[in-house]
Amino acid sequence: MIKAQRTETMVRQRYAAGAKERADRLCCPVEYESKYLKVIPQEVIERDYGCGDPSRYLREGEVVVDLGSGTGKICFIAAQIVGPKGKVVGVDMTDEMLEVARRNAPIVAERLGYANVEFRKGRIQDLALDLELLDRQLKTHPITDAASFLAADELAEELRIKYPLVPNDSIDVVVSNCVLNLVEPKSKRQLFEEIFHVLRKGGRAVVCDIVSDEEVPEQLQNDPELWSGCISGALTEDGFLAAFENAGFYGIQILKRATQPWRTVHGIEFRSVTIEAFKGKQGECFERNQAVIYRGPFKQVLDDDNHRMERGKRYAVCDKTYNLYSKAPYAEHFEFVDPLVDVALTEAVPFDCSRTPLRHPKETKGQDYNVTTKANNKCCDGGGGSCC
Ligand SMILES: C[S@@+](CC[C@H](N)C(=O)[O-])C[C@H]1O[C@@H](n2cnc3c(N)ncnc32)[C@H](O)[C@@H]1O
Repeated sequence: MIKAQRTETMVRQRYAAGAKERADRLCCPVEYESKYLKVIPQEVIERDYGCGDPSRYLREGEVVVDLGSGTGKICFIAAQIVGPKGKVVGVDMTDEMLEVARRNAPIVAERLGYANVEFRKGRIQDLALDLELLDRQLKTHPITDAASFLAADELAEELRIKYPLVPNDSIDVVVSNCVLNLVEPKSKRQLFEEIFHVLRKGGRAVVCDIVSDEEVPEQLQNDPELWSGCISGALTEDGFLAAFENAGFYGIQILKRATQPWRTVHGIEFRSVTIEAFKGKQGECFERNQAVIYRGPFKQVLDDDNHRMERGKRYAVCDKTYNLYSKAPYAEHFEFVDPLVDVALTEAVPFDCSRTPLRHPKETKGQDYNVTTKANNKCCDGGGGSCC
C-alpha cells in the first residue's frame, strides 16, 4: 500500500475510535459560546476535536458547508446562527463520526423547532463524489479485478458529474475546524481548489486549523501517529495563507492566531489559527469612471490583483474592483469616488486592470465641469453650522 493511502486509513481509524470514545490528545481546548451548546447533546460536545470556532463568523440565512464535521458540533452551532432560512451541510469520510452526527441531528432539530442540518459522506479533497452513492453502486458492481476497478473509476466520475455531493457555486460559506491538516500533501492543492469550486461568487471560507512556525521535516511527516494528531500535515503559517491565494481566493486575512502554541515538537511550534478568504475576484473589467482612495494607515497597499495604491491618492479602478472594495474585507479601508455622470454597465468599455493609474478629478467630474457654488451647509459631519 502506498504511503498516502496509509495516512488516510490511519486518520479514518483514529477518528472512528474518537467517535466511539472521547480521545483527549486529538484536540486543543476551545471555548464555544455557551448559549449555542444548550441544545447539543453531551456526546457531541464531548467528542470535540476542533481547534477554533469558525461558526462565530457566520450570519443569518447563509448556506454553509462544514468540512470534516466529525460528530457535528460546529454544524449544530451554525444551524442556530444561520437560522431556519439558512442551511448547514456537514461532510465527513468516517462512518462512525457520521453515525453520531446523524443520530443527534433530529434531537437538535426538535429542540430548535426546525431542521436545517444534514450530514453527507465524502472526502473533503473530492467534494463532488458522494461516497454513499458509490458504496451502493459497488454493492451491485463489486471490484473483483483490474477491469472492474477501472469501471468503478469511470462510475465515480459519472457520479461526480450527475449527482455531486456538493455542487459547484452553491455555498455561501465553507467552514472547517481542525481538518485541512489531515489531508495528505499530494491532495492539499486539490483540497483548496475544491473549496473554491463549491463556493458561490462572493462566498467565503472561514477555516480554523493547526499551522506550524517552521516547515515540518520529512521524519515528522512520516509519523502516522503525529499525522492523525493534527501535527505532521500542518502547513506553515504563511503556507496556509498562500494555499488559499494559489486557489484563487482574495482578501485573505488572519482572524485569530493563538499566541501560545498548542504543542511543540522538536522545537517546532504548532498553534491554531482562523483565517478568512473570499471568492469572487475573477471576471471581466469594465471602465465606469470610478475611483477609490486608500485611507491608510499604511503608506501603500497591494491587493490580490496586484493593484498597488499609495495612501490618500485617487486611483482609477474597474467596476469589478470598485464593487469588491465596497464590501468586506476592504470597505472600511477605502473612500469611494463616483463619477458625476454614471456610465451604464451596458455601455462601459473594457478596463485595463494590469495597471493602477491615478484618476484626475477632472475625469470623475467631466473635462468641462466649471461650476462655482456657495459654501455647502452640509459639508461637515453633523450638518447644520458652518464648515470653516
Ligand atoms: C480533528 S477532527 C475535527 C472534527 C470536527 N471538525 C470538530 O470540530 O470536532 C477531524 C475530522 O475530519 C474527518 N476527516 C479527516 N480527513 C478527512 C477527509 N480527507 N475527508 C473527509 N473527512 C475527513 C475525520 O473523520 C474527523 O471527523
